[in-house]
Amino acid sequence: MLVRLIYASRVASSVTRADVDAILACSQRNNARVGVTGALCFTGTMFLQCLEGGRQAVNEVYHRIAGDPRHRDPALLSFEEIVAREFGDWAMGYVGHTPDNRALFLKYCPHAEFDPYAMSAASVRALLAELLGVAQWRGK
Ligand SMILES: Cc1cc2nc3c(=O)[nH]c(=O)nc-3n(C[C@H](O)[C@H](O)[C@H](O)COP(=O)(O)O)c2cc1C
Repeated sequence: MLVRLIYASRVASSVTRADVDAILACSQRNNARVGVTGALCFTGTMFLQCLEGGRQAVNEVYHRIAGDPRHRDPALLSFEEIVAREFGDWAMGYVGHTPDNRALFLKYCPHAEFDPYAMSAASVRALLAELLGVAQWRGK
């Protein structure tokens, strides 16, 4: 059975762009092994991540991530059974928050600053779907 899990978290203060690159490299390696795909958004202060795959594999990866000291306050925004993957091409795709895509991040957000904690599950899913179409993805 396939599931999709989406969560938000706040970046630990010491985390640098190099740390995010290391997280991505590790994610791509591990996720490919267990059939998990998805996307990681990094805004500089927050993470928004989507994990897709078998229910047990997604649970295991999420619980490992949730205990990682490089972020805090992980909040589940959405967990659902799905018929098909949306991010099947990416062991872990990456999108940064740039001046170019700022409007897109805000499109689904009720606040002036991007705040995934304040967004509905439907808005988060719509944002990720739209980012999939237009953003610069890395880590195929
Ligand atoms: C925001 C964030 C997202 C992460 N995403 C993943 C992921 O998708 N897959 C993964 O295996 N590890 C991910 N990690 C890293 C895990 O927390 C953990 O460090 C890693 O899985 C350990 O792998 P290792 O045993 O191969 O060193 C993430 C960490 C953070 C902070």
